[in-house]
Amino acid sequence: MDFYKVIIVFLFLVIFGLILRSPIQTGGLNMTKQTTSLLDTISVIHQRKSVRKFTTQELDKETLTQIVKAGMAAPTAANKQPWAFVTITDRKILDQLADNLQYAKMLKTAPAAIIVIGLPQEALPGKDAEYWIQDCSAASQNILLATEALGLGAVWTGVYPNIERVSFVQKELGLSEEQIPLNVIALGHPDGNFKAQDKFKAEKIHWNRW
Ligand SMILES: Cc1cc2nc3c(=O)[nH]c(=O)nc-3n(C[C@H](O)[C@H](O)[C@H](O)COP(=O)(O)O)c2cc1C
Repeated sequence: MDFYKVIIVFLFLVIFGLILRSPIQTGGLNMTKQTTSLLDTISVIHQRKSVRKFTTQELDKETLTQIVKAGMAAPTAANKQPWAFVTITDRKILDQLADNLQYAKMLKTAPAAIIVIGLPQEALPGKDAEYWIQDCSAASQNILLATEALGLGAVWTGVYPNIERVSFVQKELGLSEEQIPLNVIALGHPDGNFKAQDKFKAEKIHWNRW
């Protein structure tokens, strides 16, 4: 009798373990519950680097959605999530952006770009609406880290607060004045061997007071 009890408890634990590992836990995007350890996460943070040259290999919609989903996991002031994301894979639009954004020429070789859009009207009221900038920056960093973790490459190219770039991108993408592009993140498979810099400076850390 005790033998059967042991078998039942064992089966229960196996089934429970399988449910915990189910993709449903992560929104059905086939992202089985991350097995990434703390060390892996720290490694991804330190390995991230700007990649400005890409192979012609395309990125599928599922991968791009997975990357944007990481962006949406970022913290935001009062949890307002005042953002939207425009994902571009259309060669003509990528070329048009490359031709008109002086520091985003790498878009010529990128198979995709993600534009992080700030929505100040959905942020905190009054002066605090400016938290949209930090909120969208946190989302952007998550996008860069997710891209690195997937073995892909990306670079953040600045749009806001440069007024000319903001109005160009708004016009190009059909955005309203209240929809503010923070950046254009070019991404794809790295073409070349890009290395992360070691930026650690012990003297930048102050303990307890300046
Ligand atoms: C706000 C911001 C704006 C940036 N704008 C550009 C840009 O317009 N073009 C570009 O090639 N890189 C741009 N970068 C990437 C930086 O040049 C890069 O992060 C920096 O040189 C450090 O290199 P790393 O990303 O490899 O660590 C930008 C980064 C940030 C955070």
